Amino acid sequence: MIISPKIRGFICTTAHPEGCEAHVREQIGYVKSRPPLPDSPKNVLVIGASTGYGLASRIVSAFGGGAATVGVFFEKEAVEKKTASAGWYNSAAFETAAAAEGLYARSFNGDAFSKDMKEAVIAAIRKDLGQVDMVVYSLASPRRVDPETGEVYKSVLKPTGETFTNKNLNTDKKLIEQVTIEPATEDEILHTVKVMGGEDWKLWIDALAAADALAPGFRTVAYSYIGPELTWAIYTDGTIGRAKLYLEETARALNARYGENTALVSINKALVTQASSAIPVVPLYISILYKIMKAKGLHEGCIEQMYRLFSALTGPEAPPPLDERGRLRLDDWEMRDDVQREIKAAWETVSTETIDDLTDFAGYQSDFYRLFGFGLPGVDYAAESDPARPIPSLG
Ligand code: NAI
Repeated sequence: MIISPKIRGFICTTAHPEGCEAHVREQIGYVKSRPPLPDSPKNVLVIGASTGYGLASRIVSAFGGGAATVGVFFEKEAVEKKTASAGWYNSAAFETAAAAEGLYARSFNGDAFSKDMKEAVIAAIRKDLGQVDMVVYSLASPRRVDPETGEVYKSVLKPTGETFTNKNLNTDKKLIEQVTIEPATEDEILHTVKVMGGEDWKLWIDALAAADALAPGFRTVAYSYIGPELTWAIYTDGTIGRAKLYLEETARALNARYGENTALVSINKALVTQASSAIPVVPLYISILYKIMKAKGLHEGCIEQMYRLFSALTGPEAPPPLDERGRLRLDDWEMRDDVQREIKAAWETVSTETIDDLTDFAGYQSDFYRLFGFGLPGVDYAAESDPARPIPSLG
């Protein structure tokens, strides 16, 4: 079939197999263009491995460090005339490329929050690898079923305390609008913390430890975001920020149990991913951020950020300096004073008429389409494409 993008709000309901493959190959190409990372972990488990930061972590581990990787994700397989999700195609492409270089890669598709998934993954690690020396926790999910009680928790993206009104970019219609979001209830805050707060991160690490599946000196890293005051109401001080505070507490609890600096929270740069495009206000911020960082030659995507993370963790300067709260800061370039000053100025004046002058809307949109495999060079989008792609290790 001919596969074209079908956008519904902040999601694209189709994905292009060859396009996703080209996207993965591009990221592999970037990693190979950089110096190898010989001291990088050798057996890496990535939870949330199919898109965004998790996929980039898996690619850097495998193609930068030569690691065996186990990836966990929740993606949709193609059915008849419906394409698979982008993360499915990404993972198929990743595994094929890894196999071509003799790199072990095994994937698990299903709910990472469940006990069954943990058991299946840990059994595979014990059987095939013995132990892992790095666990990347890169889940972004709107819901979680509590494995003990069966209760369903749903995360929300809302401010806490007060109603929030600010500019928003309607990415469908290319309009600057005002958005007003009512504050979350206490219950909604609790739900968001339950989903995104790292309780499940600790369950994974404890389950791996109990099965003797963690190598001595193992490391684990989870990702978070802070950003500037402009977005605090919706992010850092919002429901997701509350969850991320708990994530940091989880890192401290893991360090108390498994040793100092075993668990790290890395504060990453704001980038277009399926998760971030769902957050109000953030797409406008990212569009302005891209414009300014590109002009200054500071722009990075997920793969550049993750290459920097793995080099910092294992390179000659390791361990990297941490901030006053023990976090790794990959958002250092985003948060530079000059960058943030220019963003603030653009934010204050930007209107629908000046979107193209003051923001990199084209770059935002292009990145969004690329997430689903559209707009990649060298892909013939007018050609017939078979939507069924196996992920080799899923059988
Ligand atoms: P993403 O949407 O690209 O990736 C989410 C991953 O989680 C996918 O692999 C998906 O399959 C997997 N997943 C979701 N629910 C699952 C479930 N129940 N079971 C198994 N797998 C599941 O998201 P992104 O942006 O890469 O986010 C990853 C982490 O990075 C999140 O913690 C996010 O808060 C953080 N982060 C993201 C930033 C951004 O600007 N995108 C900035 C800084 C941190």
